[in-house]
Amino acid sequence: MVNSIGIFLYLLFKTNNMKLKIISAALIGLVIYSCSPKIAPQVAEARTEAVADVKPTLPPDIAEGKGIFENNCAKCHKLYDPKSYSRQNWIPILYDMQKKAHLSDAEIDKVLAYVSYQ
Ligand code: HEC
Repeated sequence: MVNSIGIFLYLLFKTNNMKLKIISAALIGLVIYSCSPKIAPQVAEARTEAVADVKPTLPPDIAEGKGIFENNCAKCHKLYDPKSYSRQNWIPILYDMQKKAHLSDAEIDKVLAYVSYQ
């Protein structure tokens, strides 16, 4: 199929014969038209598979908090396991660590959302 399209395109651009150009263009149109209904369900199918393959991911804000946590919170000590502390215990710790890690309020809020997301 790709080969015949190639040949038509070659003829279309090489020839000076106007009739041949029109016929080639019509044939290319026909090939594209006749292929499209077959392609569409395949694309839809591929998309469904891709979605099914994706592992359950964190919500965007939580994922962002995880990124901030991993990039900023292991500079001075090991990365603490979020599950080591309850949300109530994390709040004063993060208040303390925010100053050490020089994070904004918005950033530390996302870290808190991440560590208390389990
Ligand atoms: C500039 C260095 C530094 C950075 C950056 C830092 N910490 Fe700490 N962290 C410390 C020090 C020092 C201690 C122990 C003394 C203390 O509690 O202040 C500590 C203690 C802790 C503890 C134990 C607290 C307790 O009471 O048991 C946790 C949990 C913790 N950090 C989490 C974090 C998190 C989360 C971040 C990122 C937001 C972070 N740290 C960033 C220096 C840092």
